[in-house]
Amino acid sequence: MRRAALAALLLKSICLLAEGGGPSTAIANVSSRSTISLDGTWNTIIDPYETGLSSRFYENAKPKTKSDLVEYDFERSPKLHVPGDWNTQRESLLFYEGPVWYQRDFSYHKRSGIRTFLYFGAANYQARVWLNGKKLGEHVGGFTPFDFEATDQLDVGNNSVVVEVDNTRHADGVPAMKTDWWNYGGLTRSVELVEVPKTFLESYSLQLAKSNAGVIEGWVQIGGEAHAGEVSIEIPEIHLKQSAQVNGSGRATFRFSAHVELWSPENPKLYKVVISGEGDSVTDEIGFRSIETRGTEIFLNGKPIFLRGISMHEEAPFRSGRAFSEEDDRTLLNWAKELGCNFVRLAHYPYNEEMLRLADKMGLLIWEEIPAYWDIQWQNQATLENAKSQVREIISRDRNRAAIALWSMSNETPISPERTEFLKALAAYARELDSTRLITSALNHSERSGPDTRVLNDPLGEFLDVLGVNEYMGWYEAKVEDTDHTQWKFAYDKPVIVSEFGADAQYNLHGDAQTRFTEEYQANIFEHQLAMWQRVPQVAGMSPWLLMDFRSPRRPLPGIQDYFNRKGLISDRGQRKQAFYVLQKWYQEKANQGVR
Ligand code: GCU
Repeated sequence: MRRAALAALLLKSICLLAEGGGPSTAIANVSSRSTISLDGTWNTIIDPYETGLSSRFYENAKPKTKSDLVEYDFERSPKLHVPGDWNTQRESLLFYEGPVWYQRDFSYHKRSGIRTFLYFGAANYQARVWLNGKKLGEHVGGFTPFDFEATDQLDVGNNSVVVEVDNTRHADGVPAMKTDWWNYGGLTRSVELVEVPKTFLESYSLQLAKSNAGVIEGWVQIGGEAHAGEVSIEIPEIHLKQSAQVNGSGRATFRFSAHVELWSPENPKLYKVVISGEGDSVTDEIGFRSIETRGTEIFLNGKPIFLRGISMHEEAPFRSGRAFSEEDDRTLLNWAKELGCNFVRLAHYPYNEEMLRLADKMGLLIWEEIPAYWDIQWQNQATLENAKSQVREIISRDRNRAAIALWSMSNETPISPERTEFLKALAAYARELDSTRLITSALNHSERSGPDTRVLNDPLGEFLDVLGVNEYMGWYEAKVEDTDHTQWKFAYDKPVIVSEFGADAQYNLHGDAQTRFTEEYQANIFEHQLAMWQRVPQVAGMSPWLLMDFRSPRRPLPGIQDYFNRKGLISDRGQRKQAFYVLQKWYQEKANQGVR
């Protein structure tokens, strides 16, 4: 996508933000809306030189006469399935990075008093959208939802939608040029038409009041035409119905007493909640719980909790590729449950909405992260706006998920004043949007003080509620035995989550514990790492690296990695490695002790 266009797009969001409005986020909770799915087979044109812009592929033109020159034809072009990345659907596209044009026809029946939005669960990385040849809009960011109003562009009967998706990496992007995960491109999540009344319930937030489990508070934002009415919140199971007045800017705020069963991993209680007003109504499943820190401890519902976790990627089990289906999600979260987890770190970008709703149902606390990963352009205002829009879009989509305990702003970013300023601003923005959750980042810089002491005093720690620590003693540095006499010190009196440690092992490769890539080497690393962190009182949880092997362009070792990072405790084919049982046993004991 032309650099000028991208800069213009981000500049537009800067101006909008300056106006205090800020680009609106996608309609929340579309699964409770009247929708028409556009999933399925789409026509596609692979366009490495982005010819499609000057050739106006978005017009989906047909030659009218035999002498007309039209050098593309969607109908006769190869097909791809939506949702899905293109890399694993066609061998020839495995390494492809660049523009791909998607097109499909659909028939639509217009209804009066209805507004229709074209909604995308996600498109990696940048998307331009046309309907019947008219531009609806553009979006940057590969892992968050976006929508465009289509009411006026829709025709009665046949319609043609064209989407240019481009997963080219950019130095000013989020993420930027380097990632240790496959840059799966495409319409990776569902596409649907969402129908709402002219005035509709655009978004809402409902949660327990901070440190008062007997009070529920929140707000409802109305979208659309003038409104002066009332909005009501109903929780039928506890015979509760509360109403509130909508103010001039379409917002109604609530605070009311309610006696609810609290959501927790042991008791993932969800309540059906009906929000109605202005002729519209949505239903959601919401759990009520409080999450906070006190000193170096994390408290859930007023009680200290140890987060028995695992990190993962949104990689589809068995078939690889970007996971998107409920089946993919359920398989991955069931494996985490089997491991004995009450917590999962969704690395390094927002996952599909279904994953979060399943975590709500299955009782798994969640760390959700935006991909400010490794080095990005910390001094670039447009990059900061890009990161902010990803924070805004994900908080708007997932703010009512009880499972989500932590928003993570970044992973393993090199310390510099510009970087810390950037992430400090991002953390402040996230707090502004959601003050009910904990803010964290995965840090990986520690200093030695003496042969056996490591000190983590990253300046970013000051702006976080919880310190995430990634370290790879025994794999990338030091000897595994060094963990036996290493102690950790932290410059901040805050809870620590060991967000990564681990080692590559190819399933069924065996040898002694000193032989790299064997299951024994990996299991030995886990034994020693768990023992080391057991000795560190400030540790309130962990999410070792990671649940399942995943595809990565940085891992070419033939016969072992074959472009997969093999640090999974489970292979990409679902086979459990020895270390899986080491961690399972450790979590079992931790749970039995009922200790923090
Ligand atoms: C890093 C990083 C991960 C990466 C892992 C590894 O710490 O956060 O994204 O995959 O280490 O090297 O395996």
